[in-house]
Amino acid sequence: MFSNEIVAGIQKSSWIRKMFEEGTKLVAQYGAENVFDFSIGNPDAEPPAEIKAALMEVAQSEQRGMHRYMANAGYNSTKERIAEKISKETGVKMPVENIIMTCGAAGALNVVLKSLLNPGEEVIVLAPYFVEYLFYAKNHGGVPVVVNTDKGTFQPDLNELEKHITPKTKALIINSPNNPTGVVYSEEILKEMSALLERKQKEYGTQIYILSDEPYVSIVYDDVIVPPVLRIFKNAIVVDSFSKSLALPGERIGYIAVNPAIDDNKTLMAALVFCNRTLGFVNAPAIAQRLVEAGLYSRVDVNSYKERRDVLYNHITSLGFECIKPEGAFYLFPKSPVEDDVEFVSIAQKYNLLLVPGVGFGCPGYFRMTYCISMDTIKNSLPAFEKLAKEVFNR
Ligand SMILES: Cc1ncc(COP(=O)(O)O)c(C=O)c1O
Repeated sequence: MFSNEIVAGIQKSSWIRKMFEEGTKLVAQYGAENVFDFSIGNPDAEPPAEIKAALMEVAQSEQRGMHRYMANAGYNSTKERIAEKISKETGVKMPVENIIMTCGAAGALNVVLKSLLNPGEEVIVLAPYFVEYLFYAKNHGGVPVVVNTDKGTFQPDLNELEKHITPKTKALIINSPNNPTGVVYSEEILKEMSALLERKQKEYGTQIYILSDEPYVSIVYDDVIVPPVLRIFKNAIVVDSFSKSLALPGERIGYIAVNPAIDDNKTLMAALVFCNRTLGFVNAPAIAQRLVEAGLYSRVDVNSYKERRDVLYNHITSLGFECIKPEGAFYLFPKSPVEDDVEFVSIAQKYNLLLVPGVGFGCPGYFRMTYCISMDTIKNSLPAFEKLAKEVFNR
């Protein structure tokens, strides 16, 4: 009766949602203070003061026309400021026409994939991945092709990648700082990746676009620098969002920035603007565009995420869990001490710890925990991790 593909997709769509729903049940049974929900990446930070001030200003403005339809790509003044910031930060001169304001990174990814893909073309996704990528590629007739990253470092494995590039490869999605690992891809590997793509494009006479999904680009720790993809890949299309950097996920605001070096820029930009409209977004929310324009150089309190990362990382590694120390984003992705990560997550649930199995990110044998939750919850959860460790390491 309904779409078979969608109905099947719902069943296996999201472990994160599943754990979130389990959490709601546990909260009803044990009370919120006794349940430690590390499942969903919904930032607990509040937007910076500049954003709240801008919101008051917009709300009180007497200027007419503030809430009308606009050009589908968004307000020029917002795009100008973003283009200027990108040019300053990356050294790549970004024309204002190459920016499109979008409904978050999720909207942007769909707009880009819709614009690029012919039926049956392949979209390479690096595992572990943000699970929605698979659905977004399929939304637009694409075929997701999963390629594992290096299991020791979670950096892209270029030998594996090369094996999966075919004449049908149209795009490669990268996400650094990464959800779920917190890893930042190194400049050296990205440069080698760029050379590999150039070689494969020549061999097949095709174009392969790097779709760089960067919602965590300004949430990095210990002076880590995220290499600017626009400087490394000619065919780079950057997708950014203010959901995490300004803690505005409910306001649905992000943008697409297209490398001016891409061939036939004009047609690509026209296609992106067309899809922003015809996918039903029409344009990014007017108020949110004004907010991010006013607060473009501010960001949430990254230090507070770092403190939470350190408490959680130090505690679980001292208990024997193996985990890469995240350089960015707000997730830990430790190795599951029980072979079956789904079984491990259900053991953790006995101690009211809600974790997400690695299989939900295409990477069984691991689990994800987010630390964008309160420090109190993290600290209160530590004894539960001790009990869990006792059980799983003494089996
Ligand atoms: C890697 C990644 N990409 C995209 C998104 C979607 O972000 P937005 O809220 O900007 O649509 C998320 C949200 O969690 C994410 O983790």
